[in-house]
Amino acid sequence: MSFTPLFGQKIMYGADYNPEQWLEHDEGFETILNKDLEMMQQAHCNIMSVGIFSWAQLEVNEDEFDFSWLDEVLDRLNEKGIKVFLATPSGARPHWLANKYPEVLRVNERRERALFGARHNHCMTSPKYRERVRIINTKLAERYGHHPAVIGWHLSNEYGGQCHCPLCQAKFREWLKQKYGTIENLNKQWWNTFWSHTYTDWSYIESPSSIGENGVHALYLDWMRFSSENALDFCKAERDTVKAITPDLPVTANFMEFFYDYDYFNWAPELDFISWDAYPQWHNFADPDYIASYTAMNHDLMRSLKGGQPFVLMESTPTNTNWRPLSTLKRPGMNILSSLQAVAHGADSVQYFQWRKSRGSSEKFHGAIVDHVGHLNTRAGREVIELGKILEKLSEVAGSAVDAKVAIVFDTPNRWAVDNAQGPRNKGVDYLPLCLDYYRPFFKRGIAVDVIDETCDLSKYKLVIAPMTYMMRDGYADRVKKFVADGGTYLSTYWSGIVNETDLCFLGGFPGELMDVMGIWEEEIDSLDEDVIVPVRLEPLGLERGFKSDNYYGTQLFGLVNPAPDTEVLLSYDYQFYKGKPVLTRHPYGQGVAYYVASRMDPGFLDTLAQMLSQELKLTNAFNEPAMPFREGVSAMARCNDKYRYVFLSNYSEHDQMVKLNSVYEDMLAEPEQQRHISGIVYLKPYDARVFRQAL
Ligand code: GLA
Ligand code: ZN
Repeated sequence: MSFTPLFGQKIMYGADYNPEQWLEHDEGFETILNKDLEMMQQAHCNIMSVGIFSWAQLEVNEDEFDFSWLDEVLDRLNEKGIKVFLATPSGARPHWLANKYPEVLRVNERRERALFGARHNHCMTSPKYRERVRIINTKLAERYGHHPAVIGWHLSNEYGGQCHCPLCQAKFREWLKQKYGTIENLNKQWWNTFWSHTYTDWSYIESPSSIGENGVHALYLDWMRFSSENALDFCKAERDTVKAITPDLPVTANFMEFFYDYDYFNWAPELDFISWDAYPQWHNFADPDYIASYTAMNHDLMRSLKGGQPFVLMESTPTNTNWRPLSTLKRPGMNILSSLQAVAHGADSVQYFQWRKSRGSSEKFHGAIVDHVGHLNTRAGREVIELGKILEKLSEVAGSAVDAKVAIVFDTPNRWAVDNAQGPRNKGVDYLPLCLDYYRPFFKRGIAVDVIDETCDLSKYKLVIAPMTYMMRDGYADRVKKFVADGGTYLSTYWSGIVNETDLCFLGGFPGELMDVMGIWEEEIDSLDEDVIVPVRLEPLGLERGFKSDNYYGTQLFGLVNPAPDTEVLLSYDYQFYKGKPVLTRHPYGQGVAYYVASRMDPGFLDTLAQMLSQELKLTNAFNEPAMPFREGVSAMARCNDKYRYVFLSNYSEHDQMVKLNSVYEDMLAEPEQQRHISGIVYLKPYDARVFRQAL
């Protein structure tokens, strides 16, 4: 399987280009532009994102436009064959707009209206803001929509956040009316009888606030859903404005790292392609596999949002960020390695923030391709050039697909619900870390994993892992039942199947509608300080199924379950009154099997479990071979098209490593004088990234 490459048979390579910062430069704008264009070619760049925060330079005062500089920039980029993602400028507004129309300023949950400042902080309901965005976007689309350099729209920038202003409150109430029909129904679904919180009028409803309503979990959930949908509605308005003039130009909105505020699975169908901004904290953790797997999982989420379609790495840094406690530099090799990791997981581009480092203001020390010194003969610049050459060698990879037989369910509304629930662990249930716990052993074995949510189709997978599905969304249990009945393997954990979409608990036992599939009833859940380590005991059936030791332990949360008569107990607790209660169960259902894990288990357990499942389900790795864990810091990922398998082999550690190849591959990055065919032992230098090809 493969996809039509998003923008031709190449990997796109470039950056956010914000040349409006240099309009008044001493050397003259022209000089800077010429230097930039020359260096872009030197770096093998073929794409730039332009206009992201340019509103004040394009509309200097209300209805007073100046496009002269942007005309020049686009024409000059075009002359050099560099394509453009043209941004709509709504991510930051000009002073005049905020001062003339204060309704555009965002209001926080304490009902305080912001002053002008920073960015990404406008009200997304404000008719005035929408109107001014529509006007500038129309101008941009009319002027540049058919410009030969422009190949796509970069809508706004990193949409995020919420607004609690009166306009948003009114819209929220309308949204609730649509959803619930009557106030009585809303009261019932939200369980408002408790603490006398029954609403008798729609106008009494206010968004959650630390100085107001903050104990009605269903209100919080609906507010999160509304805010996500309202921001999406704003994004769609931007999209529709530009699509009316340029129906064929694809649109994207750059997404963020496991973003909390919005439900990206809801957003994805409204965009033509997915893009995201990746800033992993490389080198800040002793364990190289931690940050490598965390970032890989994020890439996998982006790929899965549109059913495996390649995505765009819209931003990354060639060196460091400047907004974290530590601005650690990427070590030599890491920029190439981390960029190829994105490509390995399905990106058809590598792009940076930003092309030329700002001279002043808030990002003057953020990494950029062209540093303050003004040329590319820097450690980072040389690596950027080298990567440009590498990506040209990998052009044929564009459009190839990652074929995952394993999926992890990471569901955003469930995340909101389980964090807010006032349940067994208010200091944090660690939903995302738990998902990563399960992802990591598959990453370590080079087994491809999709990251899906509760609304996704399960039928293409052999194994679906659904940690802590506290909230079971409508229809999910039915899909799981069918998946398992048809032969799938489903793995779930403690604190699953507890509530419905309005946070009402399932009556009749947990995990609700999946009790019969899972073959357990979770009667209680206990919570202990993280220092407490709860030992487990290996049961005879566990030994039979491949568990060799019982040197495992659980922490944090402890489901205490009753197994059904036909449920196999593979491991049990060996602790206090939990003793003998199951820790790992296996239950046949239809043609398939359901596993349940009762606690937050240690890495050794998770690794053994992944090995057992890989063998049982004959899961293969990036080399299409039975999967075994790679050495520390090493992993592999593959993309395929109809002709070739492309294997990306990576060493995220600061040590030399090696991997044994069991067949012959072509080394796609070999220099002409080097041996192109390789087999046997491959030696990996620290932060080494290799790409091999094999005909199918
Ligand atoms: C985000 C923004 C960019 C820039 C970078 C810096 O991703 O989109 O404008 O601020 O962060 O890391
Ligand atoms: Zn608002």
